Amino acid sequence: MDRQVKLAPQDSRWRPGTPRWSRIGEMQFRFLVQHGLRPEHTLLDIGCGTLRGGIQFIRYLHPGNYTGIDISPEAIKVARRLIMEERLEDLRPRLLLTTDSRFKEFSGETFDFLFAYSVFCHLPPEEIEEIFQNIGEIMGESSVFFFTFKPSGRMKEDKSKDKKFNFRYPFRYFQELAKEHGLDIELLEPPSAHNYPEKKRMAKVTKGKSSTGKQRE
Ligand SMILES: C[S@@+](CC[C@H](N)C(=O)[O-])C[C@H]1O[C@@H](n2cnc3c(N)ncnc32)[C@H](O)[C@@H]1O
Repeated sequence: MDRQVKLAPQDSRWRPGTPRWSRIGEMQFRFLVQHGLRPEHTLLDIGCGTLRGGIQFIRYLHPGNYTGIDISPEAIKVARRLIMEERLEDLRPRLLLTTDSRFKEFSGETFDFLFAYSVFCHLPPEEIEEIFQNIGEIMGESSVFFFTFKPSGRMKEDKSKDKKFNFRYPFRYFQELAKEHGLDIELLEPPSAHNYPEKKRMAKVTKGKSSTGKQRE
């Protein structure tokens, strides 16, 4: 992503304000609101990128309730600049550069909603496993973690030119990880055109049967 943001500032996927960037952000926003996000909730946007969804969440949530993390310094730089340009500093979004997926920066803190949109399709298994190992620490009993992935019958990396870091996983891979870490997981219904791109699927992770995540929907 760092390479993409840096080297392709004209790329409509990442440049804030392009119709494509806004459309995908709006889809993310609609999805989380449909699944119970309210202004008083806290949200951790894992791999927030250039705030495609983030900008909508920041405007909607109560001040201080949005946190975005990313491993790309360039994405965080673009995101911070956007907050200034849009004069959203008073909403106190937290934008943090991270180096791993252990979430140590949030020690003792939990989030109501956790979201990783278009992130796992770029992560190798070891990074996804690190997220599953640690995410329970920043989830409370009623927290819900939604993530997208590109499904396939078996784990696959697309190594064709310009397609570095494109991974596909079967849902059972995530089921096994969730089980190993005492988490519940469910595959949501396939998306509609108003939801998010059809080649992606969305999964929902909760801490256990006592989760109130369902009540929010
Ligand atoms: C395809 S972009 C999607 C960005 C954003 N979610 C969106 O929809 O616009 C994936 C992002 O995840 C970030 N990323 C990859 N691995 C990560 C990790 N382990 N922790 C946090 N961010 C990560 C990348 O730097 C990149 O900004």
